[in-house]
Amino acid sequence: MELREVIGRRRSIRFLLPYKPVEPEKIQRMLEAARLASHWGNVGSLRAVVVFRDSAPKDVVDSLVAPIAGFQIRLAPVVIVWYIDTAAVDDQSNRLRELLAAGALGFGDGKKEALETQLIPIFDSIREGLKQPGLGEVDCGQGIAQATLMAFEQGLGTCCLGSPNLDQIRSNLGLPDTCRVLLLQTVGYPAESPDAGGQRPRQPFEKLFHLNRYGKPFPRSEKVVDELKDDGMIQSPAPQPWREEELNYLKHALGIKGHGLI
Ligand SMILES: Cc1cc2nc3c(=O)[nH]c(=O)nc-3n(C[C@H](O)[C@H](O)[C@H](O)COP(=O)(O)O)c2cc1C
Repeated sequence: MELREVIGRRRSIRFLLPYKPVEPEKIQRMLEAARLASHWGNVGSLRAVVVFRDSAPKDVVDSLVAPIAGFQIRLAPVVIVWYIDTAAVDDQSNRLRELLAAGALGFGDGKKEALETQLIPIFDSIREGLKQPGLGEVDCGQGIAQATLMAFEQGLGTCCLGSPNLDQIRSNLGLPDTCRVLLLQTVGYPAESPDAGGQRPRQPFEKLFHLNRYGKPFPRSEKVVDELKDDGMIQSPAPQPWREEELNYLKHALGIKGHGLI
């Protein structure tokens, strides 16, 4: 499948086959994809604990709860707990030295000295600020997005889950204080149709993107939109006419109580 179609067909899959385990190699490929994502200063602060429901200690599985649509965690064969370790920033000077040696930064004979006397001192002076929520979270998001696409490419369904209990999850998993849990991601084989009811709604393009300064919408070419439709990236919007019946079927097949929201 081409990249454009992959972007267009990916969905948050909330209904997973509870009985079908996920091969560890498939999870490894997700983690490899996350590792290769671009991240500021090459610090690599994105980390994860992968919890396989069938082999993890009971107290670990029990600690993974989400107040919104919690059934997703109960049904998931795998939950990836993605977190940021801000301690990675402490070693950032060495990451810059690696980049320089790899030919990714600067040029000429004096670049090594300039790195030591100019660039590294700048980063040293803002180190504690760089550990605060901001750039680190952005590059973690890039890694999680790449892992998500890799999961999709392998036939897996995923859904990101936020939780107000992230601190609790951090301490239950034994993570150091330098870590912030970012989100849980459920992973498994989809129980719903690949289309999952159609492409989910988005904010209007013109509201999101501006040209040159705020207030003037970035012009949206219909020709490009048509091209992306042909390529499978922009698809029929949800819901498909039969979606409610599919949801009703899934609710009963998977034994989900209530409305599935809380
Ligand atoms: C950071 C993040 C947190 C999310 N938290 C939840 C959540 O707690 N529960 C849930 O059902 N979906 C959650 N989602 C999934 C979004 O609701 C989903 O992306 C949105 O409905 C659009 O659907 P799509 O991903 O299929 O395009 C989250 C997604 C992200 C990126």
